[in-house]
Amino acid sequence: SPRYLKDYQVPDYKITTVNLTIELDDTKTVVTNVMEVSKVGVHQRALTLDGEHMQLMSVMVNKDKLTASQYQLNESTLTIADLPEQFTLTITTQINPVANTALEGLYKSADVYCTQCEAEGFRRITYFLDRPDVMAVYTTKIIADKTSFPFLLANGNKVEQGDLSNNMHFVTWHDPFPKPCYLFALVAGDFDLLEDSFTTKSGRVVKLELFVDKGNLSRSEHAMVSLKKSMLWDEQQFNLEYDLDIYMIVAVDFFNMGAMENKGLNVFNSKFVLADDLSATDDDFFNVEAVIAHEYFHNWTGNRVTCRDWFQLSLKEGLTVFRDQQFSADMHSSTVTRIKNVKIVRAQQFAEDAGPMAHPIRPEKVMEMNNFYTLTVYEKGSEVIRMMHTILGDDAFKAGIKLYFERHDGQAVTCDDFVAAMSDASNTDLSQFKYWYSQSGTPELSVSDEYDAKSNTYQLTIEQNHPETHDKQEKHNLHIPINVELITSDNNLNQGGLLHSKQKTQTWTFENVFTKPVPALLGNFSAPVKLNYQYNDQDLNVLMVNASDEFNRWDAGQKLFAGYIKQLVNNAELELPMQIAEALAQVLNSDADNAFKAEQLVLPSFDEMAAAIDEVNPGALVRAISILKRFIAEQLQSKFIATYQSLCTNEFAKDGAAIGNRALKNVCLDYLALLDGANELVLNQFNQANNMTDQLAAIKTAALNDLICFEDVMVEFARQWQGNTLVMDKWFSINAMHNNENVVQRITGLLTHPEFSIDNPNRARALIGAFAFYNSHYFHNKDASGYKFLFEQLTKLNAINPQVASRLITPLIQFKSFDNNHQQLMKVELEKLSQLDNLSRDLLEKLTAALQ
Ligand code: ARG
Ligand code: ZN
Repeated sequence: SPRYLKDYQVPDYKITTVNLTIELDDTKTVVTNVMEVSKVGVHQRALTLDGEHMQLMSVMVNKDKLTASQYQLNESTLTIADLPEQFTLTITTQINPVANTALEGLYKSADVYCTQCEAEGFRRITYFLDRPDVMAVYTTKIIADKTSFPFLLANGNKVEQGDLSNNMHFVTWHDPFPKPCYLFALVAGDFDLLEDSFTTKSGRVVKLELFVDKGNLSRSEHAMVSLKKSMLWDEQQFNLEYDLDIYMIVAVDFFNMGAMENKGLNVFNSKFVLADDLSATDDDFFNVEAVIAHEYFHNWTGNRVTCRDWFQLSLKEGLTVFRDQQFSADMHSSTVTRIKNVKIVRAQQFAEDAGPMAHPIRPEKVMEMNNFYTLTVYEKGSEVIRMMHTILGDDAFKAGIKLYFERHDGQAVTCDDFVAAMSDASNTDLSQFKYWYSQSGTPELSVSDEYDAKSNTYQLTIEQNHPETHDKQEKHNLHIPINVELITSDNNLNQGGLLHSKQKTQTWTFENVFTKPVPALLGNFSAPVKLNYQYNDQDLNVLMVNASDEFNRWDAGQKLFAGYIKQLVNNAELELPMQIAEALAQVLNSDADNAFKAEQLVLPSFDEMAAAIDEVNPGALVRAISILKRFIAEQLQSKFIATYQSLCTNEFAKDGAAIGNRALKNVCLDYLALLDGANELVLNQFNQANNMTDQLAAIKTAALNDLICFEDVMVEFARQWQGNTLVMDKWFSINAMHNNENVVQRITGLLTHPEFSIDNPNRARALIGAFAFYNSHYFHNKDASGYKFLFEQLTKLNAINPQVASRLITPLIQFKSFDNNHQQLMKVELEKLSQLDNLSRDLLEKLTAALQ
């Protein structure tokens, strides 16, 4: 049954210290938990602790061992009544880490014990008040075999270690910062260790330790460098320093998410730690740096100030995503970084917000919390923070952050507290703005304009619309910051600025406008909204060339492409105008940097288009995109060849320019793959490649265009990289993206490949996820074979790992974006899933929403 934000109550008890002793064992790990507990206020209410999937061994209040009649135990709680004001509670539980395939709580995989407690995994380790507003000081003693587990890690500082009989040893850790239990972590295993240090600006010397699987030391350098950059950036930008003497990161191969910010002991999916020149792409390097930064930034936005309850998740996630995006923008091209962020929002978050799981960035109702680590909470949450940054300006925003920490350091707080600090520090009324926290759905803006040549005035009228969402919420008008630039073909008017749309309809008048301008609207994507304005091709051309803001130039190109793709969906015979090719020729000739040019040449994705069109026929959309692409390729063939050749080099470098060159080169390859000579070109790139970006681009191009060389390059790639799981994941994904009618057969065969295992989330996402999310053509095949394949895999994953299953069901529950035929076929599979008898809470919540 769901929980509601409106039902929040402060806890009846607080737990101030936790003393854990954990004796690790494959199937019988014993956890002894000694807690100092006291009542909050005067009352006689019982204490109800959360706990599941474990065996209770004993309960002691102070010195008294309780008999079974002195407490109540059920599937998910332990209740103890008649308690004194203050007492020591000792609870012993036994757990089975090997059987834990859900990877939540304490689990063992690939010879490593590790934990994942966020959001509600601590209750699988011991009985506890598993809620973020209960904060305690933790001491953790770990006991394990010394040979198999030389490293025993937990939060905070190491305070004691020693040997025990039977080749066992122990280490005790103490974390002085009170924290919620979701930040607890433990790791035990044998690793290679990369050590470094960072001196904070006030002189604290922090030991940095990065633990990776044996043999992977050479792939851990980049993560360490990224960590040090993050630590410096947070001091420089926000005056935030690290607060313990040690910071540890452990890379593990089995992990449900990207990474976890446990205090002083981050646990990472190895995908976001390991990278070297041969096996990692430029994107991989970028992502490792971004995730390392994200988790580091959580030390302040998340750990020092945490969430009062899980409905407030965006308090830490939206803010921390915003911070990592700003960091990435500072480390790389800021425009290209922003474009990457915006594409995710438009393609995926908009779809989520239009689907059955639509929710505000601060949800009001939750059944399974793991289902709310969403694009909405994270990415739209970040956009909401960014809008405050835009409205207040950088200085006032930073003053707001400063005030937030002055008021709330050490506390568990709400999104309202955050906005109050922003508002107070800047003297800005954010009361209407706050509806962004409670309102789901993507707002739509309709913009119209009028130019009066007599009075030299130009008027812009903006209307807000708030389409109904699945949660049937009542909608308010929002405070929407809209960046506007008025552009004329001869020169830049230098007019515009930030408009604050607050009412249903508002009009702005600009004076001294001597020719009719073209409005560049929503510059830098100043708000997460859809925008409608009737641009003609010429307008968009003007913007592509003359907009002073790079983002606006890119966005105009995207609008031009999107307009033609929409028309092609309905009429594949449509005659395409030469102006499209001419505009792109201008892009290729411009003196912009190559990374930006590459972005300008990439067409909107299937998902982005699907989010912008009603009742999509997926086949027609795939075809429309490829018709436009072929047209561009044919018109610009010689330019693409020349550019491609000019960018081929034998030297490998990793600076921004080299990365941009590779990006542009591979976009050219992507177009050229549609023309004569594609096979040789791709084969040649594959054979010559001295880095993963180029090698992967070659096999991906072969797959997406079903080239003759496909089978050969795939065999060769697998021969070269067998045993490297992260690279083999790329190989599994490319298999799943093969644009060929036999792809379902192919991936069904791969389920029994020796390097595949559905138990490993990275493997499952690489093969099953890549097919469902990226092979739009065959996932949506009319014979429903794609849907059926996903159904089969979800039935297995539902039992093995509900969190992974719940992510991978996404493309099926978003059936509403498609035409009626496809909707019906998708619903059949969803109905079948809803009949499973062991249906997890994760899938149940989504299926209930989707089928209601
Ligand atoms: N707090 C982590 C991060 O964003 C993610 C944890 C997700 N946990 C989950 N159960 N879904 O860095
Ligand atoms: Zn996070």
